Amino acid sequence: MKRFVLAALAAITMSSAAYADTIKVGVVGPFSGPFALQGKNFKAGIDAYIATNGNKVGDNTVEIIYRDLPAADPAQSKALAQELVVKEKVQYLAGFYFTPDAMAVTPILKQANTPLVIMNAATSAIVTKSPLVVRTSFTTWQTSTPIAKVAHDAGVTKAISVVSDYGPGVDAENAFKAAFEKEGGQVVEAIRMPLSTNDFSPIMQRIKDSGAQGVFAFLPSGPTTLGFVKAYNENGLKSGGIKFFAPGDLTQESDLPALGEAALGIQTTFHYAVSHDSPENKAFVEAASKAIGNKAELSFPSVGAYDGMHVIYKMIEATGGKQDAAKAVEAVKGLSWVSPRGPVSIDQESRHITQNIYLREVTKAQDGTYFNKEIQTFEKQGDPGLSAAK
Ligand code: PHB
Repeated sequence: MKRFVLAALAAITMSSAAYADTIKVGVVGPFSGPFALQGKNFKAGIDAYIATNGNKVGDNTVEIIYRDLPAADPAQSKALAQELVVKEKVQYLAGFYFTPDAMAVTPILKQANTPLVIMNAATSAIVTKSPLVVRTSFTTWQTSTPIAKVAHDAGVTKAISVVSDYGPGVDAENAFKAAFEKEGGQVVEAIRMPLSTNDFSPIMQRIKDSGAQGVFAFLPSGPTTLGFVKAYNENGLKSGGIKFFAPGDLTQESDLPALGEAALGIQTTFHYAVSHDSPENKAFVEAASKAIGNKAELSFPSVGAYDGMHVIYKMIEATGGKQDAAKAVEAVKGLSWVSPRGPVSIDQESRHITQNIYLREVTKAQDGTYFNKEIQTFEKQGDPGLSAAK
């Protein structure tokens, strides 16, 4: 009997030691290469969250383990995720900038008993690939739908759409077309470019030749978007009166110093502007600027990561640190809070974030810097792409 009690006690001590432990979170993102600034923003958001909330959830200590994935590379993404799960024993996977990288990881989640908290990848269908996916970023359906009304209200009846030819680009094209046609507009041509395109002059010529009064564009933020907006300016489309409409990926704040006047006046719709006027965002920008080292480098992946950490902390709290992916995800369904971007919640069914989408215009501040100025709010937007994704 005594021996039995001792054995039981030992088991309890061992298991509680296992629970009151270090909880590892594996974060995959582009931390080197052309998209390194986007990964740096993941890290800034995570650092800001930990600086503000501490690295403890109850008795458990949270440890972040980063893995670098410089470009969209699904095979490498899966290999990194497997290594994080098997060797590092992470309880949570998070980050993922590009859609194909997030998609590649969804098949391993169940067996790994690991939730995936997506901090950027924005194709609607990702959340349908596993019940263990939660997303705190946005979808291109969510951000590209409201800009169609803005374009039509600006007098554009014929538009051309230009997108990167992969998940979020195809979603953006479909979202814009559906909403623009509903307004009575017509998409005269829909161009899909390879993700690797970096010479945009031939595309600009096709836009001019199409006879459209406005262009709708989506490319993933980074050197791609910077090059595209520059080309729009340098090829005489802006001066020629062809209006430009896009989700906010095209005018991320970290691109604005390099774009300067080329971006001035461009209207975009998006879930987050660094300039968002709220006490929560003021505190966030202060902490994230400190983390990144230069406020001018701050951009939207930082807020996806910050809110992703909030969700992970709630999951750790709900499971008491025990690895139980299904319970962790269940606990955050319907969760609502005030993010630096505004009020948000995790949709019960889709596990995707419901949020305000803002119309913003690139504006010159008194000190000569450029920023996205919020001018209109589309409140509590769910993901209109989910029905298309099923
Ligand atoms: C994506 O690959 O899902 C993606 C990447 C960058 C963005 C938006 C979407 O700006």
